[in-house]
Amino acid sequence: MNALRIHGGRRLTGEWRVHSAKNAVLPIMAASILTGEATRLEGCPELVDVAYMADILRTLGCRIHSGDGALTIDPQGLNRHEMPDALAKKIRSSIFLLGSILARFRKATVTFPGGCEIGLRPIDLHLSGLRQLGVDVREEGGLIRCDGRHMRAGTVHFDYPSVGATENVMMAAVLLKGRTVLSNVAREPEIVDLQNLLNAMGARISGAGTHTVTVEGVERLHGAIYRPIPDRVEAGTLLCAAAITEGSVLVRGACAEHLRSLLFKLAETGVGIRETPAGIRLSGTAVSPFELRTLAYPGFPTDMQAPMTVVALKCHGTSLLNETVFENRFMHVSELCRLGGHIRVENNVALVEGGHPLCGGVVRSTDLRAGAAMMLAGMIAAGETVLQDPAGHIERGYQDLPQKLR
Ligand code: EPZ
Repeated sequence: MNALRIHGGRRLTGEWRVHSAKNAVLPIMAASILTGEATRLEGCPELVDVAYMADILRTLGCRIHSGDGALTIDPQGLNRHEMPDALAKKIRSSIFLLGSILARFRKATVTFPGGCEIGLRPIDLHLSGLRQLGVDVREEGGLIRCDGRHMRAGTVHFDYPSVGATENVMMAAVLLKGRTVLSNVAREPEIVDLQNLLNAMGARISGAGTHTVTVEGVERLHGAIYRPIPDRVEAGTLLCAAAITEGSVLVRGACAEHLRSLLFKLAETGVGIRETPAGIRLSGTAVSPFELRTLAYPGFPTDMQAPMTVVALKCHGTSLLNETVFENRFMHVSELCRLGGHIRVENNVALVEGGHPLCGGVVRSTDLRAGAAMMLAGMIAAGETVLQDPAGHIERGYQDLPQKLR
């Protein structure tokens, strides 16, 4: 998608069904190669990042079939332990494959995944976790060469509860004879989903969602049919869109339990939120300013910081948003100021003086969640906003977002 024309001032009403979560599906795709049998993922979103991951699995020898909303991965032909350089650079999540390739082949070569717009995205915690399992990791010439011949179950501690590092090491440990205990792990719902998928494949993992995960190694895994959790970030983005347009929506399939911090913050702005068995209903409009700090789960999710910056523009007064997870995740601010937003950023804290009218203009998407936030901003700016997205950020993480909002 190169450019979107958005006409502001329209209320959002109706209902949408959320897809399965991108950030659950990507590690689960990596986990699917831990067995020689096929795994079928139900309700899989059609996203560019999922397509990239599928391409990487194909180059490793897997057969991928997608259709009727499901993705089937058949790793029977898996025959390579080296990640294709060009593809691996396209998507950071390729680093998740390190743990699963090591578990299968006891060796792996991957390229250093690129950073991205929101930060350097180092992988030191991933490599530290694998080294604690006895993997010999050498970084040379932009490549990471892992020798896992002496891998063994044991204890792994993380300096920071990294989502990706937790997932990588869980997958590396699942076929190691004995008990592996991971401490100070990430507690995101996507970690629990990965545990549930692996256990559906015959693994014996417990503790996901708490600070400590225990993996009892098993001989082998088998295929599974699995429906990943709903996408909490897609759901949250849609709720923010309704909150700024005096909307009345039902986000069908959304899991309120995964969105506690966001729902609490949105309620503070004055919107009405109702949790129903069908999903989450939101009505009314955001008027009261708020303060938030992004944190590891269950704290406020960093992926929702950009959309909430737009909600703050709607609120009458000064809101404060402190981004503590990524070092460069305020690039949407300069674009919002082009539309008339009054925002200052100092030391990863954005001070938003809300309540001023926004006027349409030409803006660009700087990263995935910022691009979605700019769509929301165009919906409350007077006149027409042209959102340029030459890199196609939005469709990497949101399926049919423009169509949904229409
Ligand atoms: C996952 O990224 C998500 N991506 C991100 O979503 C999400 O923002 C992030 O978790 C935090 O919730 C996927 O799941 C595919 P981290 P990940 O490792 O695993 C630093 C989106 O928009 N760090 O928890 O990369 C890191 O630089 C994306 O959907 C190290 O220093 O997140 C960051 O500052 C964006 N060393 C912080 O930790 C490491 O080895 C959190 O990163 C790893 C991470």
